[in-house]
Amino acid sequence: MAIVYIEQVDEMSLEQMQATHESEIKILNEIDKLATMYHIHKADPAELEAKLDEYVEHVKKHFESEEVLMRKYNFPSYTMHKTAHDTFLSDLDYARKQWKNGELKKMINFIYKVPEWLLLHVNTVDTPTSNFLERKMKES
Ligand SMILES: [Fe+2]
Ligand SMILES: [Fe+2]
Repeated sequence: MAIVYIEQVDEMSLEQMQATHESEIKILNEIDKLATMYHIHKADPAELEAKLDEYVEHVKKHFESEEVLMRKYNFPSYTMHKTAHDTFLSDLDYARKQWKNGELKKMINFIYKVPEWLLLHVNTVDTPTSNFLERKMKES
């Protein structure tokens, strides 16, 4: 069982965006596995925490790479898309701070809410963005 499957999100017309979504989903499922093991065995959370750090970095790069392309090709809904990213990042940062202050569980709980946000964002915001970018790239 995975907490989110790549088949659940729209396939991006832009290969770069698709690859980013695939790797992010992979990390989320790895976190789920590590969190479950940590929960059962009460093992050292070092591996889980390293994976969470990897996730935070991945999200930042994911959003940044989309924003760079949107600016480059003058995507008309840039502000709306960027605001969606920034809102998520501030929620993520809050959960991360709680985790770094000793409340790992808060960060794990946040992770379990991510798939719902991700599916909605990818399918309603990233899809039109990818289609626009792909068209513009072909023209140039
Ligand atoms: Fe995306
Ligand atoms: Fe996005």
